[in-house]
Amino acid sequence: MRKKIVAGNWKMNLSLEEGQRLTSEILHQYANVINKQVSVVLNPPFPHLYPVKNLIGETQGIFLGAQNCSDKESGAFTGEVSAKILASFGVSHVILGHSERREYFKEGDALLATKVNQALAHDLTPIFCCGESLQTREEGNHISVVRAQLTASLFHLSAEEFSKVVIAYEPIWAIGTGKTATADQAQEMHQALRAHIAATYGKELAESISILYGGSANPGNAKELFAKPDVDGGLIGGASLKAGDFLEIICSF
Ligand code: PGA
Repeated sequence: MRKKIVAGNWKMNLSLEEGQRLTSEILHQYANVINKQVSVVLNPPFPHLYPVKNLIGETQGIFLGAQNCSDKESGAFTGEVSAKILASFGVSHVILGHSERREYFKEGDALLATKVNQALAHDLTPIFCCGESLQTREEGNHISVVRAQLTASLFHLSAEEFSKVVIAYEPIWAIGTGKTATADQAQEMHQALRAHIAATYGKELAESISILYGGSANPGNAKELFAKPDVDGGLIGGASLKAGDFLEIICSF
């Protein structure tokens, strides 16, 4: 059975106090969730990580993730945060290759491959984001473009390493726009990516990889998306900033 995962990407939002309040509300509501088969990952901004970790404490099923890490091990890289530092205080996941990092910070495939290596070297689970632009989709090249993103940044990994990666398909045109991919569009891409992984790493490994959908997922569409056989959860932006909405999404399986 593949892991079901719902990850909240807070992006650059919330003061420390607001972040702590949100975490407390999520934990409070999560205590009443009956189906705890879903792993929940909170990905707050860097300064919130340690306080959020202390709030999570020993709560089973809730994990802590960063939104980025350096491609370097350590040293004179002012302003950067390494995978090693994150792992040293209990961060377990890291979002890599988000389209906002690719677009605004010019993070390319080769750099992302190095970041993935760093994450894995320090036992962080990379939540590797991929996705196409609206133009690419309209041209009908979406599947080949997203497959190529996986090939370029992940296919150097050994099978053992690859088995630790989580993939998040996030069509750029759906992020923060209120335009969700239809459940069928998500399923088509997830199935294609799984087949792509199977062609290199074998069917068994491909079947074990969790592929999340992201892009305007909300309590109104999560059920339909999660009902698709190759959609194993969500990477949630805007709706992860409201405890009620986020919990509803968690309960949509
Ligand atoms: P959104 O963001 O849910 O606000 O569209 C998703 C993401 O960027 O991870």
